[in-house]
This record gives sequence, C-alpha cells and structure tokens, in this order.
Amino acid sequence: MRGAEHDHGVVDLAHELPAGARSVGHMQELAALAENIAREAGDLARRRRAEGVTVAASKSSLADIVTEADREVEALIRRRLARARPGDGFVGEESGASRGTSGITWIVDPIDGTVNYAYGIPHYAVSIAAVTGEPIPEEWMPEIGVVHNAATGETFTGIRGRGARIGQTRLRVSMPPSAGALLATGFGYDPAQHDSDLARIRAVMPLARDLRRAGAASLDLAYVAAGRLDGYFEKGLQPWDHAAGGLLVTEAGGVMGGAPAGRPGRELVIAAGPQTYELLRAAIDR
Ligand code: IPD
Ligand code: CA
Repeated sequence: MRGAEHDHGVVDLAHELPAGARSVGHMQELAALAENIAREAGDLARRRRAEGVTVAASKSSLADIVTEADREVEALIRRRLARARPGDGFVGEESGASRGTSGITWIVDPIDGTVNYAYGIPHYAVSIAAVTGEPIPEEWMPEIGVVHNAATGETFTGIRGRGARIGQTRLRVSMPPSAGALLATGFGYDPAQHDSDLARIRAVMPLARDLRRAGAASLDLAYVAAGRLDGYFEKGLQPWDHAAGGLLVTEAGGVMGGAPAGRPGRELVIAAGPQTYELLRAAIDR
C-alpha cells in the first residue's frame, strides 16, 4: 500500500513502515522523502532570495548571520518531516532539537551558505541527513544524505551502503591528479580561529594546484564526492554542515576524517579520495 500523497509529492510513510527498520526499501523511501522536501525548501529559499533578503540576527559572532528565510525554510522542512514521519527526531540549525521514538533523527541545515545567500551569490544548499542511533553527533550513524543546491537545482543523494548519485549518475571521488589537488576549505565565524585556519592552508598548499573557498560546506563535500574537488578541510563545522555531505563522500568511495583519533566534527573535517586523504592528513598533522 502506498502512503497518502501530500502537496509537492511528499509521501506519508508513517503508517506503512515498521519504526526504525533499516531495509533498503525503507531507506530509499526516506531518501525520496528528503529529496522532495529539500527541493520544495530550495524553491522557497530561491523565491525569498528574489524578493530580497534581510538579516534577522547575528548568532555566534557578527559575521554569523541568520536571515528570515533560514528560519522560514527550516520551519517548512520541520513541518513536512513531522507530518510524514511523526515519530522521528529532529536537529535543526535554526530551531533546535526534539527527540523521536522511531530511532531515526533528521539533521537539517535549511540554508548552508547563508552569507552567500545574503550577498546574492548563487551557491547555497539545503542539507538534510537521516541518522540512526543516539541523536548526538559523536554517536549517530548517517543513513541518508541529501544536499540540494537551491541555485542550480542539482540534488546529491547518498544512502549508506548504496552509493551516492546525482539523478541516475553515480558519484565517485577523484584519483590524485599529477598537477596537484584542487582543494577547498572554509573559515569559521570565530575570528580567533583565523590564524590557525591560515596555518593549515600554508601546510597543505604544497599539495595543491589551487584552493577554493566557495562558502557552503555541504556543497564542498558534495563536490568532493562528485570528483569536482580533490579534497576539502575545515575546522569549526557544526553537525548540520557535514552530516549529509559526509555520507556523500564516504558513499562515493572517499574518506571523512576529523582531528587525530577523533570523528569528523568541530575540531576538524578532512574529506578526500583515499590517496589524497592520506596526503592531507599528513600535511595537516605535521
Ligand atoms: C557555513 C558554511 C561555510 C562554512 C562555515 C559554515 P552556514 O554554514 O557552510 O562554508 O565555512 O563553517 O558555518 O552558516 O552558512 O549554514
Ligand atoms: Ca545554515
């Protein structure tokens, strides 16, 4: 039996799936749900951008902004997920966390690349991951990752154990290029971290053909998965910045690392194909 169709093609799965089941079919349906919601959310973000964006508040520092659209888009995603999957938990950048009962928790960044968004640079994304296990980043297991580039309409989807793709095209990380790696990084919002960010860049530059700072971590990770970047590293990311993109990387054959002996997280995220990962790891840890 299929679930009830809602507007925008969102399907109500709540009554037809055993809570927490991890069958391939279940995960594919969750991925389709996340893709539909991400596209609807991306459409809303783009509409609001066209109407003109205002900054609503600063958060951790003056540079760390939130727009009304970030809040509205997250509210939409949260509503859609709650309607389709009332037993699931939720962790969102703008509206906080609620615990579920199904064993699945959604990790959401409604607009990743908010500064690009506010400046009118068309490089920002809706990032939605579904994780199982305890709803804390050190313990959860990413199962689904969807990163939707709202400006270009590209949707990157990964399912644990089933690969990552854009549409029907499977994603694969790059092999290390002989001309040096095309790398990307980001700067956190905390100005006190910028010296160490710059030291890390200095350490990896001998490996690089060039370096990008494009402004949306979830897209940096999606691009590593797609082989459009050879590697990416950043300190200071929040769980919603890398939960979905990190699964894309590992499902595309890449490696996600963190601080030495740690999981990818606030201390550090390094993402690359296996060989480039080892080079980055050694350069950064040196
Ligand atoms: C930010 C972006 C940026 C990264 C920052 C993130 P936000 O997320 O992903 O590329 O460098 O560390 O906080 O604030 O735009 O959702
Ligand atoms: Ca955000």
